Amino acid sequence: MASIGVIRGSGALDWDVDWRELGDNHTDFGDGSARPVIAEVGDREVVAMARHGEPHRYAPHAVNYRANLKLLERHGVGAIVALNTVGGIGAVAETGALIVPDQIIDYTWGRIQSFSPEDAVRHIDFSEPFDGGLRAELLRAGEIAGIRLHDGGVMGVTQGPRLETAAEIARMDRDGCAVVGMTGMPEAVLARELGIPYASLSLVVNPAAGLSDSMVDLDEIRAVSEQGMTKIAELLGVFFQILEGFD
Ligand code: HPA
Repeated sequence: MASIGVIRGSGALDWDVDWRELGDNHTDFGDGSARPVIAEVGDREVVAMARHGEPHRYAPHAVNYRANLKLLERHGVGAIVALNTVGGIGAVAETGALIVPDQIIDYTWGRIQSFSPEDAVRHIDFSEPFDGGLRAELLRAGEIAGIRLHDGGVMGVTQGPRLETAAEIARMDRDGCAVVGMTGMPEAVLARELGIPYASLSLVVNPAAGLSDSMVDLDEIRAVSEQGMTKIAELLGVFFQILEGFD
């Protein structure tokens, strides 16, 4: 049975398991953010990757997404669940909500979007950026665990590391974005290039810029992230038990 990859953001995955390091973090595309680690969770081997490094050191625009994906591919993962903290824009995206987005609008710039060299153009289909089967399994785990997940929504991905202006968020709202994060791209498209099913579990940690009476509060974001990670760890525990396929 294939292992499952988890790309996590800053929050730790609070399972009582023994993580073992899996080799180094070197690839033909440079060094990944951290060495991948592996543990048994539920009935699955889980290979986890700290997107921003361990400890946290790479800002969203400075992450080597290609190397991180190559490391997960090297260890044979059958699917990848990406954990993203996001700002809420749409009505369902209240602070604390968990969303399984179904679409992406990419507002990033200058990030390398492909494993192909520049003289070997490769166009891939990306109409549906997230894997439908994997999304369905996450939603099913939510039902079984009694943890509310919102099915679908557009993830807008901005360049960061600064947060957005109120006008940028108003534009993203008009564009139909439900949430805004900084790391969904190019991660999702690189997973697609490698043929690895990929889905995101997005935790809303703040109302996006201009959508509340106060400025975005970084301490509050940290507190909501910590609480949310506990819920995510519980949900994924169930997910790894019930997941079918993705070998
Ligand atoms: N904007 C972009 N990325 C984020 C936000 C936000 O408001 N909150 C958490 N990640």
